[in-house]
Amino acid sequence: MHLSDRLRERSSRKYDLTDEEIERRMDVICGSWAESEDGEIDGGDGMGAVVVTGGSRGFGYALAQAFLEQGVVVVLCGRDTARIESTTASLSMLPGALGRVTGLVCDVYDKVAVQAVWDEATARFGGVDVWVNNAGVRQSGDALWDLDEEDVEHVVRTNLLGVIFGSQVAMTGMLRQGGGQIFNVEGFGSNGRLHRGLNLYGTSKRAVAHFTKALMHEATATPVCVGLLRPGMMVTDLLRDSAGRFPDTEQFRTALRIVGDRPLPVARDMVRRMMANRKNGAHFVWLTPRRIGWRLLQFPFVRRDLGL
Ligand SMILES: NC(=O)c1ccc[n+]([C@@H]2O[C@H](COP(=O)([O-])OP(=O)(O)OC[C@H]3O[C@@H](n4cnc5c(N)ncnc54)[C@H](OP(=O)(O)O)[C@@H]3O)[C@@H](O)[C@H]2O)c1
Repeated sequence: MHLSDRLRERSSRKYDLTDEEIERRMDVICGSWAESEDGEIDGGDGMGAVVVTGGSRGFGYALAQAFLEQGVVVVLCGRDTARIESTTASLSMLPGALGRVTGLVCDVYDKVAVQAVWDEATARFGGVDVWVNNAGVRQSGDALWDLDEEDVEHVVRTNLLGVIFGSQVAMTGMLRQGGGQIFNVEGFGSNGRLHRGLNLYGTSKRAVAHFTKALMHEATATPVCVGLLRPGMMVTDLLRDSAGRFPDTEQFRTALRIVGDRPLPVARDMVRRMMANRKNGAHFVWLTPRRIGWRLLQFPFVRRDLGL
């Protein structure tokens, strides 16, 4: 069953809407993603937007680029005004992207600001098809006792509260508009793995995974689909220390050479899967055991270009 059919069916059942009202809303939600005959998803006119939090750098920037490549309208946000301006300008240079990308300044742990992003995106583009809670930060110290109160709050508020507020705002808006998709981003620790120096980061990501699974459960029988993205290890600022350096250990270099990626190929894969998604509870994993196995086989022979 197509996304549009499922949304129609659920909307009439749950919200008791007339056929006419459902059609009007479906134009907003699904108009952009009409399926072509060969099953590919096409961007189109009258589409709602995709929102990517933390879209000014790294994986978020790559997601924004990959969505734009698909002809989708993108709204991104970050905290730094100058960076948002330069990101928006550089993404606008992509073929066909002029006028299709909007950058907004927003700190994701300020719920009022997150709501303003939703309001601006829907005011400009008539709806939000996909909302990706991507903004995230690393912890600055090593062991827990090295971190001051500010560091602790910064990680927990951005990585966890930011995702909770983003999901709340998107869920409320999408229920009102009649459908949409929310994706949250996992990270090291989501699956319970431990590593020195990643206690707080891992704890926040483990919580994001749990929160999102609980939200998937809550979203059952609503027209909103909730999913998780697990992008693996990418060469972004998140891996750099406060002096802008990558960790200088043999273990890190080896891990990066085997499982590390530039963010854009990962983002393109995730965007393709998000746009084709039809179901609540999707979990898109980049580093599958098969991919890791293939990388291990290649490791002695192939020097992968990570742009370092
Ligand atoms: N890199 C990896 O290996 C990796 C692996 C797995 C998962 N992830 C996850 O992927 C996501 C993106 O990480 P990344 O590697 O792309 O990191 P990054 O390069 O450091 O980018 C982080 C982005 O989030 C924004 N941001 C940070 N705090 C924010 C806040 N409070 N409000 C709004 N925006 C905020 C940053 O912009 P400003 O600083 O200008 O606000 C930036 O655009 C994170 O959730 C991370 O946990 C990364």
